[in-house]
Amino acid sequence: MNDFRPQIIVTESDSFGETAAGFLIERFSEALKQARMPLVVLPTGNTPLAIYKCLARDHAHRRDIWDHARFLTLDEYVGLPPGDEKLFYSWLCRAFMDRVGIPQSHRVFFHSDAPDPKAEADAMEAWVRDNGPIDIAVLGLGGNGHIGMNEPGPDSAFDSVTRLVRLTPETVRANGAYWGGEDKVQPTALTLGLGTLAKARESVLLVNGAHKAAILRDMLNKPVATDIPATYLRTVPGVTIIADRAAMIV
Ligand code: PGA
Repeated sequence: MNDFRPQIIVTESDSFGETAAGFLIERFSEALKQARMPLVVLPTGNTPLAIYKCLARDHAHRRDIWDHARFLTLDEYVGLPPGDEKLFYSWLCRAFMDRVGIPQSHRVFFHSDAPDPKAEADAMEAWVRDNGPIDIAVLGLGGNGHIGMNEPGPDSAFDSVTRLVRLTPETVRANGAYWGGEDKVQPTALTLGLGTLAKARESVLLVNGAHKAAILRDMLNKPVATDIPATYLRTVPGVTIIADRAAMIV
């Protein structure tokens, strides 16, 4: 298996959002030169919040990007009705897509309320195959090493496709704040697979905070294996990690 070394950009904690937003704008611009309607995968979570804020603040200057790129959500809970505020898609609309003015037709997302979630996963995998490749996969790093909802373990094979998954107790705990308690969190989700993401032309992994330092160190140094799903990023070229100083010091 290839062991590529990702490029790592280290920022001060208070300039993480600004630096990452600047980097993404540069990569989105480049993707626009390569593809008529670049396809970008976007994550939710605390990590990208400051970045979306910077992108929203400066959005008026870059209508070329916001009007032409297509944006795809990385993962989604199962079983919520359209418009539910707990949907990752709703979160992404509030934090980014609505503020920047992404045309509705350029927003690609899972249908959480699909009667057959497995069929919904298959439909998304087929959509990516037919409308891809993914030009840029922007990703967050879970405290347990997950990427999207590809949780640690054999189900997150590096060639895994978009599918229905069960969240680990750790992820349920981490997401409890959004649901008003971890006992309320919907424990099944749809996620782009690691194999789906591995075909992206490039990937940008966002990591900030001291609480991510240990998993970032492990992701960079431990054996490439599904017990740390993020290690798949060492098997593909074109990976940039943007980390703040706190996440780099263990
Ligand atoms: P966070 O989540 O940005 O809220 O830390 C990342 C993740 O779990 O993928």
